[in-house]
Amino acid sequence: MSAVQAPVTAQELQTLSTKAIDAKATAYCPYSKFRVGACILTASGEFVHGANVENAAYPVGTCAERVAFGTAIVAGHKEFRAIAVATDITPGASPCGMCRQFMREFTTASFPVYMYDGEGKYTVKTMGELLPDSFGPDDLPK
Ligand code: THU
Repeated sequence: MSAVQAPVTAQELQTLSTKAIDAKATAYCPYSKFRVGACILTASGEFVHGANVENAAYPVGTCAERVAFGTAIVAGHKEFRAIAVATDITPGASPCGMCRQFMREFTTASFPVYMYDGEGKYTVKTMGELLPDSFGPDDLPK
């Protein structure tokens, strides 16, 4: 069971958004040319970034959110406070269905997802809003 996480401070959000926006520059997206950067704030106060990584076999490509969460998990992080996702469009893109389920594994319904557009403006929704009535780890028999 995840602990209740502290709300993100204005300073943390500033850092989170800067790192997500900067991470767009690391995207490997020669096919779509659609850059996505992401950054997660961990419960221990670290920032872990990711970007989309595409593939010549198109469906094999991976979204920025899953790169960021996978990186954080293998680095040993278990609890998370927020994610920022940055794209170049307006309004900012919201995570795809596969990423919503992927993030659901490691977050609670109140986990905030900040979505930044190409001008640095954001909207925010919780995981519960993005993926209501979700299936998660607690639904599997122990
Ligand atoms: N993409 C992401 O990285 N995250 C999203 O939330 C939406 C889509 C990527 C996948 C692909 O590399 C490109 O954006 C176009 O779909």
